[in-house]
Amino acid sequence: MPTVLLTGATGYIASHTWLALQAAGFDVVGVDDFSNSSPVVLERLAELSGRAPQFERASVCNAAAISGIFARHRPQAVVHFAAFKAVGESVERPLAYYANNVGGLVAVCEAMQAHGVGRFVFSSSATVYGQPETLPIREDAPVGATNPYGATKLIGEGVLRDLGRADPAWQTACLRYFNPVGAHESGRIGEDPRGVPNNLMPYVAQVAVGRREALTVYGNDYPTPDGTGVRDYIHVMDLAEGHVAALRALFDAQGSFTVNLGTGQGYSVLDVVAAYERASGQPVPYVVAPRRAGDVAACWADPAAAAQRLGWRAQRGLDAMCADSWRWQQGNPQGYGAG
Ligand code: UFG
Repeated sequence: MPTVLLTGATGYIASHTWLALQAAGFDVVGVDDFSNSSPVVLERLAELSGRAPQFERASVCNAAAISGIFARHRPQAVVHFAAFKAVGESVERPLAYYANNVGGLVAVCEAMQAHGVGRFVFSSSATVYGQPETLPIREDAPVGATNPYGATKLIGEGVLRDLGRADPAWQTACLRYFNPVGAHESGRIGEDPRGVPNNLMPYVAQVAVGRREALTVYGNDYPTPDGTGVRDYIHVMDLAEGHVAALRALFDAQGSFTVNLGTGQGYSVLDVVAAYERASGQPVPYVVAPRRAGDVAACWADPAAAAQRLGWRAQRGLDAMCADSWRWQQGNPQGYGAG
């Protein structure tokens, strides 16, 4: 089976994808600089997979280091996760985002080109749809960035599109993630945000486990059924399996593609709170605050293209997302620890 290089390999989505790729028979080499992840992830992956992970510590911005990794491991494809992902931080530190998310992507692509590797899976985001005009969102909906983070994802997609036009050896998959949540069913790996979580489910998890007092609900006056924001939450293992399907498609047939990875189902903030209370048996108190700047009322995917092109559909529902998040949170109340 082919060897696949995962960048940002010890991060939340990549670590789950690592297991899914191994389960599908791929050989995986991981690279990360631990700028937003913990080395403890590698121990957990070893425990879950029963083998020592092949891992190299490096930044994707270090072209020489990345080239050395290609020379040593000879991957036939790359799944590129390494990027910063906090919307608010991207507004405050745009250069850091362009340097890491765009500069890192370019450095990885240069190394691929130098080593004759053209299969590339890119972590894009539903953020590229900006304020969606119609729901569900199809891949041909208008795109536009509302913050530097979103801009880096759009630029990334553009870099890959231009590479494909310049040289048909480039076969790229842009995967537009909706809202990844949950954890591996074992509860041994999961999301471990540094500091105060920006995203809903990790915050709810920390309230349920007693690490924080109450959730702040950002706005209950949206034009949605209960007034709170509606999103397409997708179980991280479904998302991981979507990457496997995308990679198989790149190995099986010619052609680049862009697909949504979502469930097609929207849930409100209060739906998530209620589901989490059910899954955990713990109360999740909340206070309502004004809307958060930049948030959209509702956003969910049309997942038909991924079903048609990849034969992939999300399998796990909101209750499984909450139950698996809770298993991880309860077993690891401080995440991976000092890591
Ligand atoms: N929310 C709260 N309280 C919180 C956190 C979130 O009420 O403490 C609400 C938000 O207002 C929103 C919903 O919960 O209605 C989901 O918010 P998240 O921050 O979890 O997710 P977003 O949809 O805002 O952002 C996600 C990714 C971004 C990406 C964006 C669009 O985190 O990286 O989707 O694709 F840009």
